[in-house]
Amino acid sequence: MELTFGDLYEGMTRCTLAEVNRLAPTVGTILDLGAGSGRMVIPLASSGHRVVAVEQSGPMLDALRMRLSSLSPGPAERVDVRQASMSELEPVGIVDVVLCVFTVISYCLTEAELGRTFTVAAAALDNAGAFLLDVPDRDVFSSMDIESGDLIRELSMTEGEPGLFEYQEHTVVRTADGPIEYHDSFHLRCWSVEEVTRILREAGFASIEDVSERFPGLGARYFVARTGEVSSTER
Ligand SMILES: C[S@@+](CC[C@H](N)C(=O)[O-])C[C@H]1O[C@@H](n2cnc3c(N)ncnc32)[C@H](O)[C@@H]1O
Repeated sequence: MELTFGDLYEGMTRCTLAEVNRLAPTVGTILDLGAGSGRMVIPLASSGHRVVAVEQSGPMLDALRMRLSSLSPGPAERVDVRQASMSELEPVGIVDVVLCVFTVISYCLTEAELGRTFTVAAAALDNAGAFLLDVPDRDVFSSMDIESGDLIRELSMTEGEPGLFEYQEHTVVRTADGPIEYHDSFHLRCWSVEEVTRILREAGFASIEDVSERFPGLGARYFVARTGEVSSTER
């Protein structure tokens, strides 16, 4: 991802960390839905937060656990890793912030699945807590070829029914021992802001704030949703 997106990737991590620290200014508990290999988990735990990392992919969890094993015991012990689908997650108790960032909502292919994921997020928050999510722009669902350092990536996106894309990837990494090839393919949905805000409301989020101005040039709109109403002076 660093080789593919360059400074944009680092900027996205920086903006997301700043937003989480704004939402939970003293250290708190963060539920990271679709945590991947820990782009947010590692810096959050390193800065003192407790993190519940939810990820359904075994290989991504292996990568996350490997990264956690190289952390010092303090931050590593603050991370609770759960292999589960975010839309079927058993209750984790009340947390301060729920994160669902970097295209994670696009892995929900139906309104029912997105609704269940938002219901899981709402159930983990009291009225003071916040749900930070991104809604990727339509441009993100475009084919592209990337050559960067020792990496060559061909990403193809094919739209079937409107809004539903087949993602196919063919990547080659040049290493000292020869090239390593990687193929992947899965579906993604491009959700509109209108659909996402409606489904958030149906899941019990009463206040939805557009915070995209704090995430400039990152190819997505960002929202902070809360289950309680928030007056403008509290934001
Ligand atoms: C593009 S990555 C984003 C990872 C991370 N949130 C980040 O910011 O770097 C999307 C991740 O969501 C995970 N994912 C997709 N659907 C999921 C689901 N239903 N439950 C849990 N994780 C899921 C994928 O396996 C993948 O690791």
